[in-house]
Amino acid sequence: MTEWIEKIEKADSPASIEEIRVGIFGKKGVLAKAFAEMKNAANEDKAKIAKELNEQKAKLNTLLNEKKIILETAALQEAMKAEGIDVSLFSPTSERGATHPVMDTMDRVIEYFSNLNFSVETGPMVEDDFHNFEALNLPKYHPARDMQDTFYFKDEKLLRTHTSPVQIRTMLNTQPPIRMIAPGSVFRRDFDITHTPMFHQIEGLLVDEKGKVSFANLKFILEGFLHHMFGDVEVRFRPSFFPFTEPSAEVDISCIFCEGKGCRICSKTGWLEVLGCGIVDPNVFDAVGYKNVSGYAFGLGIERFAMLIHQIPDLRSLFEGDMRLLEQF
Ligand code: DAH
Repeated sequence: MTEWIEKIEKADSPASIEEIRVGIFGKKGVLAKAFAEMKNAANEDKAKIAKELNEQKAKLNTLLNEKKIILETAALQEAMKAEGIDVSLFSPTSERGATHPVMDTMDRVIEYFSNLNFSVETGPMVEDDFHNFEALNLPKYHPARDMQDTFYFKDEKLLRTHTSPVQIRTMLNTQPPIRMIAPGSVFRRDFDITHTPMFHQIEGLLVDEKGKVSFANLKFILEGFLHHMFGDVEVRFRPSFFPFTEPSAEVDISCIFCEGKGCRICSKTGWLEVLGCGIVDPNVFDAVGYKNVSGYAFGLGIERFAMLIHQIPDLRSLFEGDMRLLEQF
């Protein structure tokens, strides 16, 4: 008995405690043996021996359990010490995050127009037909709807294909004059080297009294903006078509890679198309109930700007989260 008490006292790990338990209480343990030997004792002694053995059994059990708790607690403390993190330690591998090139470009565009007192407006990504198409002079079955391959939901809702619906929402919520931009994600069923199903646009809209807004104003503001983004480039306006503007134009800058000489990126034309714009079509003002106003609007894709500014050849790489690319910014 004292021999086992000593063993328990000396045990130094939960595993050794388990070994001792088996040695005492196991099928072949000392207690089992002692009880078995009782049959050799004299009958009148048996009750006394049994009582003693049971007392020893209880005592050893208590000692074992107590020691087990002590050892397990100690083991846990050790583990916590070993696995603990010292947040004050210097780590040579720690990396700092940076703004993603798309968001960085977005911020630069927003900053430019904010400085000109354009407000920043937002709208939902899940839109309805009215705001995304109808009110923008794109009635049902209008062929121009094919310009934007749309993701539809079952209940007539859709993922907005451009940020132009924010024009409509803003006009419905406020009265002119309006000077706003609308940055945000847009969605189209497209996927190749220059298209991803989700990308970012910024829409611009200015509305004031009839006769106060001209194409010259639009040209002036966009030229200043493109010089801010691309530096000393030439800017040209080309007649184009958008349902929500009339007249409409697409805007090109002289190719920043070959300086207008003609290269692979500008398809040998010397020009890069960067945005769409125009004078707001009267049908759009009718849709929101505006009378006696005039305005201009423009829209641009942020990824296209980021790709040109940072010379990124494949649009898709902007969304892969590859650190080797992102670390360069
Ligand atoms: N919403 C057009 C698109 O996604 C971009 C655009 C073009 C917006 C001309 C405009 C605009 O406001 O006037 O392709």
